[in-house]
Amino acid sequence: TIPTPYQFITASNVKPLLPKRATFGHKGTFGHLLLIAGSKGMMGASVLSARAACRAGVGLVTSHVPSGQGQIVQIAVPEVLVVEDMDTVCFSSISNIKTYSAIAVGPGISKHQKARVALRQLLKEVESPLLLDADALNIIAEERDMLDMLPPNTILTPHPKELSRLVGDWSNSFQRLELQQAFALKYQVVLLCKGAFTTIALPNGDLLFNSTGNSGMATGGTGDVLSGIIGGLLAQGLTSVDAAILGVYLHGLAGDISAGEIGQQALTASDLVNNLGKAWLSIL
Ligand code: APR
Ligand code: MG
Repeated sequence: TIPTPYQFITASNVKPLLPKRATFGHKGTFGHLLLIAGSKGMMGASVLSARAACRAGVGLVTSHVPSGQGQIVQIAVPEVLVVEDMDTVCFSSISNIKTYSAIAVGPGISKHQKARVALRQLLKEVESPLLLDADALNIIAEERDMLDMLPPNTILTPHPKELSRLVGDWSNSFQRLELQQAFALKYQVVLLCKGAFTTIALPNGDLLFNSTGNSGMATGGTGDVLSGIIGGLLAQGLTSVDAAILGVYLHGLAGDISAGEIGQQALTASDLVNNLGKAWLSIL
């Protein structure tokens, strides 16, 4: 049987989580997200997560990219600020991390030794709310002592393969849910398992199932978009539990709107970004 307690995420659950937009707000009011994404040849991850973050309501987004790769992001996403690493290949050092109201790290960063060292340093020094995705998860799954360094309430957004690297293999979905729940409890983190009906395990052991999304979203880059959305919500001051729930719901809704307009076959990660506005409008 399904581990309890569990709940389905629907429109009525997410409505109360919507961040209020202060009338006299300015870009400083709505937070500043640092996105550490991309490496040489994987800059699409950086572009997609940045474009998504810009549609999540956040005031400012800064993308940290390898030296020489900044132009790609600046041209593709004129809204973001770019800081370049000193390494030309991958994320290798952290800078001014106290400036940001949230940090999302992982999409396309690679598992190079330099990225491992930099991620470890980030975990030591980070004080803002944190999201880890993709290669950041693959790194902590291999360097297991880093699991104990995760700040409480960190959001982890693995797909099933990445999740199995973290929690081990399962033989059926119920066992997977138990492993997910146990990990979230042990490390006091918000742990997703992305896919159809994405599940979210909360630090208190609760399990949530998302109701939005479709298999048109099973295409490269859609996970990077999710990291940008949740990161942008975290930067605005939502709790990590609320940011994960609202982010997953909006992301799936953007997927459903996209599929309604162009079909599941033609759906791309960029369509999710372009339809995020309609997703917001339909729940506001
Ligand atoms: N139904 C609903 N949603 C789905 C479905 C489905 N059948 N399949 C996938 N999705 C959604 C997931 O919920 C998730 O939000 O699409 C997204 C896919 O995310 P990822 O698996 O992370 O895909 P991607 O963005 O391409 O990852 C890029 O990073 O994680 C690494 O190794 C991974 O090379 C890959 C890269
Ligand atoms: Mg991914």
